[in-house]
Amino acid sequence: MSSGPTLEAAAGAARDRYIDLLMGCLTRELFLDEEVHDVDLSKASPELRATLKTEGWRLTKRGGDPALRADGNDWPPTAETMVGRLRLEQVRSCVESVLADDVPGDLIETGVWRGGVTILMRGILAAWGDAERSVWVADSFEGLPVPDVASYPADAGHDLSHVDTLAVSADQVRAAFERYDLLDERVHFIEGWFRDTLPSAPVEKLAVLRLDGDLYESTIDALSALYPKLSIGGYVIVDDYGAWEPCRRAVDDYRAAHGITDEITAVDWTGVHWRRSR
Ligand SMILES: C[S@@+](CC[C@H](N)C(=O)[O-])C[C@H]1O[C@@H](n2cnc3c(N)ncnc32)[C@H](O)[C@@H]1O
Repeated sequence: MSSGPTLEAAAGAARDRYIDLLMGCLTRELFLDEEVHDVDLSKASPELRATLKTEGWRLTKRGGDPALRADGNDWPPTAETMVGRLRLEQVRSCVESVLADDVPGDLIETGVWRGGVTILMRGILAAWGDAERSVWVADSFEGLPVPDVASYPADAGHDLSHVDTLAVSADQVRAAFERYDLLDERVHFIEGWFRDTLPSAPVEKLAVLRLDGDLYESTIDALSALYPKLSIGGYVIVDDYGAWEPCRRAVDDYRAAHGITDEITAVDWTGVHWRRSR
């Protein structure tokens, strides 16, 4: 009689380790000590700033802040996601829940930045041996739109369109998928502004709909186009509900307009989800 772990238990443990390792890599939590950050020079002397500029030098320091990174509360220099640990665990539990309950449909994130959450989604499907579902990767791949304040007054004062850090090309995201050996025919890119792409996107059915577009416009466009495709038993995950008033208002308006009363569950200081019951 064998006294060691069963094959099934060993496979389960290996799967847990893989998904955990994937999260540690995607967030760079495992390599924080190697990270290099630009030092904020706003309070440095004009002489120092002038010297750095003349010489073409940057002032940097090593090491990230583990608490900020775990909370998903900084913009990492190289990580594939800025989403924190609890919200990544929530993605995992939602994906595993739809797999366990056989809720039909694909997985999508609208607003992927460097692609980390969608890479995690694909990795979880691979770890569970899923051979059916696709992962949809939707973004402008050029950052946030200029707020259309006339149509969406809630977005006034929230212009991030000039923030270059948020503009990551589709090729960079594909390269990130490749780095983890997770780019295949079940990863589909939807490139362009949500208002143009999502209404006609060839997505048939969704089991997990993750919204991370920050603005009212980006959130309402994604909900309007994609919520009707979400299966009963599927999850809506909203990254910015706590942190971004425009996003919260879009979600609240959409829910009110469509009579959605499914309970909203908070995950951390900003992320929430609900499960579609009807
Ligand atoms: C905060 S980042 C997303 C972070 C990402 N989920 C992660 O794992 O780190 C927001 C992203 O949404 C995209 N975005 C926001 N509004 C958009 C819109 N209306 N159309 C297309 N892309 C949009 C931006 O290009 C950016 O990549």
